[in-house]
Amino acid sequence: MARLLTLVSLLFFSVGSRVAASPCVAFDASWNLYAFGFNGKDYNAGTSDSWASGTASDVTASGRPPFDGANTTCYLSQFYNGIYVLNGDSSNPSNVHIYDPTAKSWTTQATSGGPTDGYSAVLDHDTNVFYVLSDSGELWFLSFENITTAAQSSTIPWTDVEKAGFDTTNYQPVMALANNHVHFLDVPGVAAGSADIFVIHFSWFQPDSQSYGNFPAQHGQTASIFEPANDGVQLAFAYIPDDGSATYIIDVVSNTTATMAGPSTKDSSASYFASDAAIVQLTSSGAVNYIPYTNSSSDSSASWSTVKNLVSVAPTSSASSGSGSASATKSATGSAASGTSTTSTSSSSSSNGSMGVAAKSGTVVVGMMSALLLGTIALFIS
Ligand SMILES: *[C@@H]1O[C@H](CO)[C@@H](O)[C@H](O)[C@H]1NC(C)=O
Ligand SMILES: *[C@@H]1O[C@H](CO)[C@@H](O)[C@H](O)[C@H]1NC(C)=O
Ligand SMILES: *[C@@H]1O[C@H](CO)[C@@H](O)[C@H](O)[C@H]1NC(C)=O
Ligand SMILES: *[C@@H]1O[C@H](CO)[C@@H](O)[C@H](O)[C@H]1NC(C)=O
Repeated sequence: MARLLTLVSLLFFSVGSRVAASPCVAFDASWNLYAFGFNGKDYNAGTSDSWASGTASDVTASGRPPFDGANTTCYLSQFYNGIYVLNGDSSNPSNVHIYDPTAKSWTTQATSGGPTDGYSAVLDHDTNVFYVLSDSGELWFLSFENITTAAQSSTIPWTDVEKAGFDTTNYQPVMALANNHVHFLDVPGVAAGSADIFVIHFSWFQPDSQSYGNFPAQHGQTASIFEPANDGVQLAFAYIPDDGSATYIIDVVSNTTATMAGPSTKDSSASYFASDAAIVQLTSSGAVNYIPYTNSSSDSSASWSTVKNLVSVAPTSSASSGSGSASATKSATGSAASGTSTTSTSSSSSSNGSMGVAAKSGTVVVGMMSALLLGTIALFIS
């Protein structure tokens, strides 16, 4: 039965769930973890001490972006405690959406004249300026120097800085911000363990690569590791190569790299966001995992765990009741049994109830079954 359910679930997963949705995770300046664009809603999972159980708070508010962009990414402006969203709205890709975690409100900043191709971006800590390397190898910036936690009425123009200071032919950007420098990893011709650097304050590509110790020259994802409040710019960043073999912590002050466990879920399409004490992974199937980080020798034995209070609201699971995984299992079992004409001994009254309602409309049945069965996958995975 479990095997059948899994197969049916996978079928629904591959056919039905690939709607355009681009969730992202981000911290606020008090290190509450947010999950944006989870089944059309946004959640505050709280600080790390609340991740082990329970259900994250629904903080969905009006003015939010639809989180349907191709590459939606989120950034923390630590000084101002603002969360900025790039590419959150596929219909208006030049809009930047701003979430104010204190007011729990959204505003939309219009921008003009930016790159027309895909890009990777970082947000500079001290100047509140985005730096972007476009797929065509052009470096741009977008200044939020006058933005804190809400949009301004006038449009902000992008500025085309220059061509990257290295050959970007076939380069898939791996960018990270630390110490007011934009670091580029996996640059063609640059040795493993080294990065190319753009010095923000001088708007200058350093001619020589900088050695930081041991990490592979491989495409991957990064997350700047914040310092505690008021301690200034990030001094390290996490780098997770696409093969997920390890989590590298690159300290740009000591010029050394520490190695932590690779994420349990190897996913080259996962994205990452760090606080001052945890690195969080959002997988392409909507699971949220983390590893604690202490900048001490204990990091080498740290391991990844699931952010459990996001499990029941994650994009792979039932969008409906928020009643937790146990009831999702029962409902999924009941629905699958009806849908596939096999008998089930574990239908509960609650699943019979939901089938009764759903049976009034074929499309609703499929939709609900798909949602409920997706819940099953999440349960099998976790
Ligand atoms: C998404 O990001 C990738 C990697 O940076 C890029 O190659 C691609 O063009 C982007 N797509 C869009 C629509 O921006
Ligand atoms: C920020 O405001 C100052 C003072 O009004 C102005 O000179 C500057 O151009 C503004 N910056 C941006 C990016 O709009
Ligand atoms: C990590 O700790 C060392 C020793 O205390 C310190 O020198 C270094 O700056 C710290 N690194 C970060 C990224 O905070
Ligand atoms: C790290 O490298 C930079 C650039 O080469 C250098 O200025 C700095 O002194 C190095 N840091 C340490 C701790 O050696």
